[in-house]
Amino acid sequence: MSSQHSPRHRPAAGEAGGSAAPLRPSTAVVGLQWGDEGKGKVIDLVAGGFDAVVRYNGGANAGHSVVVQGKRHALHLMPSAVHHPNAIGVIANGVVVDPEVLLKEIDGLAALGVKPPRLALSDRAHVVLPYHKEEDAIRETAAAEADPENDRSIGTTRRGIGPAYSEKALRSTAVRVGDLLRPAALRETLDRACTIKNAQFRALSRAARHFDAATLSEQYSRFGERLRPYVTDTVVLLRKMIDEGRALLFEGANATLLDVDHGTFPFVTASNCTALGIPAGTGVPGRMIGRVVGVMKAYCTRVGAGPFPTEQPNEVGDRIRQRGNEYGTTTGRPRRCGWLDLVALRYAIGINDADAIALMLLDVLSGFETINVCTEYRIGGVRTDRFPPDAMALAEAEPVYESLPGWSEEISSVQALEELPEAARGYIRFIEDQAGAPVEWVSVGPDRAQTIALNAGPAQAALQAR
Ligand code: GDP
Ligand code: IMO
Ligand code: MG
Repeated sequence: MSSQHSPRHRPAAGEAGGSAAPLRPSTAVVGLQWGDEGKGKVIDLVAGGFDAVVRYNGGANAGHSVVVQGKRHALHLMPSAVHHPNAIGVIANGVVVDPEVLLKEIDGLAALGVKPPRLALSDRAHVVLPYHKEEDAIRETAAAEADPENDRSIGTTRRGIGPAYSEKALRSTAVRVGDLLRPAALRETLDRACTIKNAQFRALSRAARHFDAATLSEQYSRFGERLRPYVTDTVVLLRKMIDEGRALLFEGANATLLDVDHGTFPFVTASNCTALGIPAGTGVPGRMIGRVVGVMKAYCTRVGAGPFPTEQPNEVGDRIRQRGNEYGTTTGRPRRCGWLDLVALRYAIGINDADAIALMLLDVLSGFETINVCTEYRIGGVRTDRFPPDAMALAEAEPVYESLPGWSEEISSVQALEELPEAARGYIRFIEDQAGAPVEWVSVGPDRAQTIALNAGPAQAALQAR
C-alpha cells in the first residue's frame, strides 16, 4: 500500500497530546460510498451526545432510515434526530428545501406521536419549486431518449435537486427560505422564473406542465407562514452554540462518491456531500469539526446510473439485495449491489479525512462461502490503487479481488465482537488494515440495539455517554 493510505493517528479527546481537541468535539457523519450506507442509523445512535444535528447538503433526495424498537422512520429533510428531543435539528444554508416535503415530514411525525427536536431552518437555504422537479424529469427523459442505444440519464431521484442548485448559481431567479416570508418579492421572482421556465419547457416537451406565478406564489407563501416559526439565521445559531461549548453533529446526505466535485462525475448529485461541504453549507469553519465518522456498508451498492467496478449483476448481487432489502428509501428503486471496493473506500476516507468507520450491514454477508474484496484496479492492463474520480476513467477499471473466508452463522443478534464468527472478525480486521482507519461500530441489523461498539476510547465514550 502506498504511504498515503497508511493508518494515521490523531489524538482522541482527553488522550495525551490531544489538548487541541475539545472534550466533546463537533463531529461529522458522512457516507463513504454511493449513499444509503446507514447514516440515519449512526446519527440516531450517537445523537444523544450532541446538542444539535445539522443537515448541511442535499435535499429530499436523501432517505435516512431510523429504526427504534422495530419502528422505522424514513426521513428526507428532517435531521435524523427525531428520537432526541433535547437536540436541535438544524437545516442549514447548504440544503435545498422542498417545503411541501418538509411540512409533510413534520406533520407525519406529529401524527405518529413523535415529539421531534426543535427545528431551526436557515433563511438562506434555497427552495426547491415544482418547476425544478419538472426540469429534473424533462432532462432525464431527454437524456434517456435522445439516443435509445446510449442512455445518458443520471438516474436522479427526480426531486429537483440539480435544477434547484443550478438556480442558486444563476441567482436572479432563485428563491430562498427567507423569501417565502416576503410575498411581494416572492411574487416578483416567481413571475420572472415562470416566464423563463414555461418558455424553456414548452420548447423541450409538449407534455411539460405550465407554471402559474400567482398560484405558486400563494401556495409557497402559505408554506412560508407554516415554516415561519422555524426560520432563522442558522449561521448565527451554530456559532453561538459553538461559543457556548455545545457539540454539533453534522449529518451528511448522499455520499462521497456522489459529491459534485469529488465523486464519479457526471453520475453524481449536485452538492458537496463530503465533510468538505460542511463549512460552506453551515458557516461553521472546517477546523471546528473535531471528528469525522465515515459510514460504509460491508459491501457496495449504487442506485442510479454510473460506473460501479465491483457490481455483481448476478446471483451474488441478487442475494445481497434480498438479504439487505436493498431498495431505495426515497424512490423504491432496486439498488445495484456488489462486493466491497477498498480502492474507492480509501479514496473516500482520504477526501473526508475520516478518523473512524461505522461498518454497517455486516449481517447481510452471512452465508457466503467466500467474500471477494477489491483491493486494486487494473486500468489499461496496469495495476493501480488510485481511484479515478471521473466516470469515463472509472468505467475502464477492472477490479482485482482478494478472496476472504465467509461465515455461515446469522449474526444479527450478536452484541459483542468476541461473539462474531472468526471469519467475520477477520473481515473487519482486513477492512481496518486496508482502510487505514479504525472500525468503531459494527452494525448487524437495522435497529439501534443491533450495534457492536469497538475501540471504546475516551472520544467514543464521550459520544455515547450522555
Ligand atoms: P442512509 O441513507 O445512509 O441513512 O441509509 P438508508 O436508510 O437509505 O439505507 C440503509 C438501510 O439499511 C435502511 O433500511 C436501514 O434500516 C438498514 N440498515 C442499517 N444498518 C443495518 C444493518 O446493520 N443491517 C441491516 N440488515 N440493515 C441495516
Ligand atoms: P442518502 O442520503 C443513494 C443518487 C441518485 C442519482 C444521483 C443524482 O439516502 O444516502 P439527484 O436526485 O441527487 O440529482 O440524483 O445521486 N443519489 C443517492 N443515492 N442515496 C442517496 O442519499 C442519494 N442521493 C442522490 O440515485 O444516481
Ligand atoms: Mg438513503
